Formats: sequence, C-alpha cells, structure tokens
Amino acid sequence: MLRAIVLGAAAGGGFPQWNSNAPACRRARAGDRFARRRTQSSLAVSGDGVGWFLINASPDLREQIEATKALVPGGAVRSSPIAGVVLTNADVDAVAGLLHMRERHPFALYATERVMAVIEENAIFGVLARDCVQRVTVPLDTPFEPSGPDGAPSGFEATLFDVPGKVALYLERGRASDQLAGEPGDNVGIELRATGGAARLLYVPSCATMTDAVAGHLRGAAVVCFDGTLWSDDEMIRLGLGAKTGRRMGHMSVSGEDGAMAALHNLGIARKIFVHINNSNPILLDDAPERRHVEQAGWEVGHDGMEIAL
Ligand code: MLT
Ligand code: MN
Repeated sequence: MLRAIVLGAAAGGGFPQWNSNAPACRRARAGDRFARRRTQSSLAVSGDGVGWFLINASPDLREQIEATKALVPGGAVRSSPIAGVVLTNADVDAVAGLLHMRERHPFALYATERVMAVIEENAIFGVLARDCVQRVTVPLDTPFEPSGPDGAPSGFEATLFDVPGKVALYLERGRASDQLAGEPGDNVGIELRATGGAARLLYVPSCATMTDAVAGHLRGAAVVCFDGTLWSDDEMIRLGLGAKTGRRMGHMSVSGEDGAMAALHNLGIARKIFVHINNSNPILLDDAPERRHVEQAGWEVGHDGMEIAL
C-alpha cells in the first residue's frame, strides 16, 4: 500500500505569509476556523509505513515533522523515519528544508540532472555531508524505486516527468524573458505507485500550462495533487500584493477556460486535490464562494495533515 501525507498545502510564503496583512492572512493569524493555517508545499510518502520519503523539502520542514506522528523519531536516540527526499524543482519552497536535514542523518536525495546541478552549485548544501547523504540523479520518464541509505527498498515506484514551469526565482537574473521557462527537468511532476500496484498518485505542485504530455500522465490516476497556486491569473495584481501574473510566475490558474479545473475535468481522475495554494487564493477560505465552486467541480482543497492511501 502507498500512503501519503500532505505536510504542507500552501505555496511559497505559506498561509499566513510573514509580510502579508491581507484580509485572508489576518483571518488565519487571528485563528479564524474558516481560514486554517497552512505550511509550505510538501508531501510525505511511504510504501511500508515505516520509511518515509519527502517530495520536496519545505522551509517549514521542521514544524511539519513535529506535527506528523509518522515522521517523528521513534527508534535510536539519533534517528529519523525519513529515508529520502525527491525534488520536483529548485524553488526555495522545494529545497530550503534540506538545510534542516544537516545533522548527519543518512538519507538519499533524488532529483533530475538540472535540479541536482543547482544543488551542486550552491555551496550551502554542502551541509549535507557527502559521506552521509547520497545524491542520486534521476532521468526523466524512467521509473525508479527509491531506497533508503541502507539500500532497503521503499516499496513504491516513482517516475519524474517534465512539466512546463519556470526556473527558480533566484536563477532568473540575466535570463531573457523567453528563457524563464527553463529546460526539460527544471520542473517536474512525480508519478507514484506501490510496487506491483496499478493505482497511481501524481504530485504536480507547479504547472505553467496543460500539455497533452502532462494530461497523458494525469489521465486515469487514482489521486492527483495539483498546482492550486492562484484562483485567477491577475489576482496578485488586483489584490495589490504584487506585480506578477500567474503566467509570469509559472503557474496556471485554478479557474478559467485554460485553468486547472477545466484542464483536469475529463481525465477520469478519481480524487483531485489542490496543493501549493498561495495565500491570495480564496479557495483557502472554507466560507468563500470560490471554495464551493471547486468542491462542486469535484475537487478537494489540500490541508496540512491530509492523508491519502492507495
Ligand atoms: C513558486 O512556486 O512560484 C515559487 O515558489 C516562488 C518562490 O520562489 O517564492
Ligand atoms: Mn513554489
């Protein structure tokens, strides 16, 4: 059986975001039960319920571990159930949590060649001692079985596939505007299934636009956790929170003709969950009309601690 736990359902910045005094963030800060707090995007998965693999290491990882029984040390005085990390891109919200994992706990780190190159180039990730943390470069579209540092099989199979996206914000400088989308492997989705199982779970926290290739991966899945960053393309601008559209940030919107609800409508997916939700997106609020809209369209809105079983 494959088990997954949504460790964080918010986009970069979290909900509330440290420098936002927008109404929704004020409600979350005030403890409003219809505006539940959420940490930054990450998923934990396990094939045996013992060893756990993180899909992205969020800046909130430390807090996420303490909030998640399965991830708290339960063995030797110095130990952790976390056996590995798989990265879907090199964004701050996907990699910053690796810095929490620097206390000589052995684990395996999996990423595409493009994403691993960013890790290699950033000296700060040297805190993950090479004799302790194994760096494994994974080719696109090639199933692999992650294993812990002791080589013990995880009991599930993963495949990374290219998804239209954007290079990390801190790597934008010096690139022409038509170079921001990056290259294959800069942003990927992950397809997971229990070893020998048929049911598939897909985690796609960042998707700039739907393509036939991405739709092909999603079609017929048991569960899809998908990019729910923005409700509409111009919402950051309209709310006075920023100057960028969703398109400029590499995220397709939830609503609209070319949005995620429309794109995933006819793909025969049994369970659809929005994750990586920005604090400006009204679907975060239990009492918002936009929340009712996505639920009526058959979607769930991810929250921290949400459990998935295949
Ligand atoms: C994103 O998903 O667009 C990025 O996480 C933005 C960021 O780096 O803050
Ligand atoms: Mn992000």
